[in-house]
Parts: sequence; structure tokens; C-alpha cells
Amino acid sequence: MERINIGLIGYGVIGQGVVKILKSRRKFYKDKYQKDFFIKTIADRSIVKKLSPGLDNTFLTPDYHAVLNDKDIHIVIELIGGMNPAKDIALSVLRSGKHLITANKELIANCGQELFKEANAAGRSVYFESAVGAGIPIIRTITEGLAGNKFNGVYGIINGTCNYILTEMSRRQLTFQQALKEAQEKGYAESNPTLDINGMDAAHKLVILVFLTQGKFVGVRDFYTEGINHISHEDIEFAGNLNLTIRLLAIAKRVGNELDVRVHPTLIPKEHALATVNGVDNAIFLDTDPLGDIFIEGQGAGQMTAASGVVSDLVNVVLRKDMAIPVWAGNPIEEGEGLTIRKIDEVETRFYIRFMVIDKPGVLAIITGVLGQHHISIASVTQKQENKGLTVPVVMLTHGAKEHLVREALEQINHLAVVRSKPVAIRMEKL
Ligand code: HSE
Repeated sequence: MERINIGLIGYGVIGQGVVKILKSRRKFYKDKYQKDFFIKTIADRSIVKKLSPGLDNTFLTPDYHAVLNDKDIHIVIELIGGMNPAKDIALSVLRSGKHLITANKELIANCGQELFKEANAAGRSVYFESAVGAGIPIIRTITEGLAGNKFNGVYGIINGTCNYILTEMSRRQLTFQQALKEAQEKGYAESNPTLDINGMDAAHKLVILVFLTQGKFVGVRDFYTEGINHISHEDIEFAGNLNLTIRLLAIAKRVGNELDVRVHPTLIPKEHALATVNGVDNAIFLDTDPLGDIFIEGQGAGQMTAASGVVSDLVNVVLRKDMAIPVWAGNPIEEGEGLTIRKIDEVETRFYIRFMVIDKPGVLAIITGVLGQHHISIASVTQKQENKGLTVPVVMLTHGAKEHLVREALEQINHLAVVRSKPVAIRMEKL
């Protein structure tokens, strides 16, 4: 029986979930693998308030140095999130010859390269299955299950909070604030939910997916990210009538020598698998070669799902000594290095646009005139109600149009006297 001494830094929602799983499976792991997974130390700033039964033999401390300085600890699980002090902790874990497991997407997205280098030098592992999709084994699917494939594109619903909000706004007519409050109460949101709703959480996860599939580390500031706080009931309903569903989509696809990488609310056909992903679920749709389309879905946020990813890392780090870091990319690294990111201005998508305009003759002619001047071709137009002389919503779907032309046209249209509020534009994606 080999004893595996674990140090856990950060005993919040996920940390407590990890302890629950290890407690219930400790005997099973002993019997199956002859390994005793023992949590030797837990460090958490407010550990006193979080004492839970069953940790009698575990040393509890507010000082994480007790974990870093303990030579008998083999593996450190970092679950405090954020960059500071998580980065310093991660580096000193590896430098002191311990393996690192983390669910910290921000850390891997910003410092992955540095950490992997450090791990290679130290002959230690960095595992981070829970950083994307919580317990959904997307990282292992890409790096191991799809190792024989090249990746043309990744399309992900990778923020549970946003998906929960959008689904519940649509299904139960909740307001944005009501749905957000519920997501927070259920423990899906980050401690600062702004990162969820402004798309940054999904952007961090997308950086990881881009690296794993394309072999290129991109920065979150290198691509366009837009959140969901401007999405209204009306647009969800109008789009629904056009057979479209709205989801916060993280997209990364190869277009020649460019990578089209972005995160934004996206309208997708109702019949596509991604449109059926509801509530807190996450899903990743991969366009691979030669395997073709792969779709993986599961609960993407929450205590036990994230904890399940962490525990699977733990078991794999211990059992798979052959696999130091799950970092090899699906596409050759040299190819990835040559790729540039397509500027959002140059991206071409179809658009849903809602105008609030005065209902009188000639209004549509003015608007379509401006769109025409910007080479934007209209696929359909619907006026949502009749209200002579008063304000009415007009919804248009465009054909593929360049982002900067749409932005310029809408700026011009916004200044027209017949237009009563800022037009709402939502990108559509062909999948
Ligand atoms: N706040 C994240 C989400 C949790 O809502 O998806 C998992 O990263």
C-alpha cells in the first residue's frame, strides 16, 4: 500500500467536494490501486469557520506555506482561484518537486506555458481537468481520446452560469438578475460573478482549448469577448420565433492560416445539439479530422462536478506516471506558431439585428439604404407589431457581413431620428 500525501490549498466549495469524494472512495482506491489517498494538510485563510467532520487526522492551517514546506506532501491541489497568490503557489509546488493539480482556468490561461516549462524541468506534472467544463473530461478527451486527430474547430458552451441564466430567462421568463441570483445560490458562479457574465471565464477556458487543439497559446486580450448582460427577453423570444436559440458560445476555428477566436452570445439553429444544452450544462462540439464531429455534454459547474474532475486528476497523476502533462496539442505546435488571430473587424458572420423604430412609411427604406451602403445584404425582415406613429421592433436577419461594416452601419442608423433606441445586434453561427 502506497500512501499518497495530499496538500489542499483552498477549502471552499470545490475543496469540500474533493474531501467528500476522497472520503467516500478512499477504501475503494486502496483495494483497487493499493494507494491510500490521504489529505495530510488543508490550508485555507478561514479554515476555522469551515471545519468539517472526518478531518481528524488532517492538519488544518490558515498558512499555505505549511503545505509548500512539507517534504512529505507529494501532490498539491490548488483551489483558491485567481492569479495571486495562486501563481506563486503553483511555481513553488513544482520547484519543490511536488505535482500540481488545479481547477484554476485563469492561472492556466495566463501562465500555462511557464508552468508547463517549470513542470518539465522538475519532472513533475500539472493536471487541470476541472479548469474547463468542470467534471466533463474534455481535456483528457482532446489530449488522449482524440490524439490521432487534427482540429478544425472548437465550439463550446463553457460557462455554466451564463447557460443557466439564458436557459431560465427563456424557460421560466426570469429576469437576468433573478436567474443570476439563482445560479449564485446554486454555487455555479465565480466568487466574482462579473467574470461569468462578461464572458471572461469562458475566454480563459477557450485559451486552454485553443492551446490543446491548435498548439498555440493566445492571450485573452488577443481576441474578442462579449458577455450576456445586454440580452433581453424580447430578443430571446423573437429569435425563438425564427427557430434560433441564444447561447454564450466560445469559438475557435481555423480559417486558412488564421484562427478565428471569439466569445459572445450567439444565435444557433434550434435543431443543433448545442442549442439543446440547457441549465448549468456545458458542452463542447469539436470538428476533427479524421473522426469528424464530436459532441460532449455534462454538468459544467457546481461543487461535485468540479470536484470529480479534480479527483480524476489525482488518480491519473498517481497512476499515469508516464504522462507528465496533458499538454501535447492536437495540431502540430509549429503549425500553431504560424497562425495569426483574425481581427474581429474582419470576421464575417450573419447577424440578427433588432431596431426600435417609429412605425411610419419610409422608415425601412432609410434603414435598408444604410445597410446597403455598407454591403450588408438582408435575408429576412419582420415587424413585430403594428403601432402607427409609435415605436415598434423590427427584426432583420442578414446574410454574412463583415463585423466592422455592421458596426459602422449601426452607428449611423442609431443617429437617425426614426430610430428610438440603440439597435441590438447578435451574431449567428453556422455550425
Ligand atoms: N463559474 C463557472 C461557470 C464555474 O459558471 O461555468 C466553473 O468554471
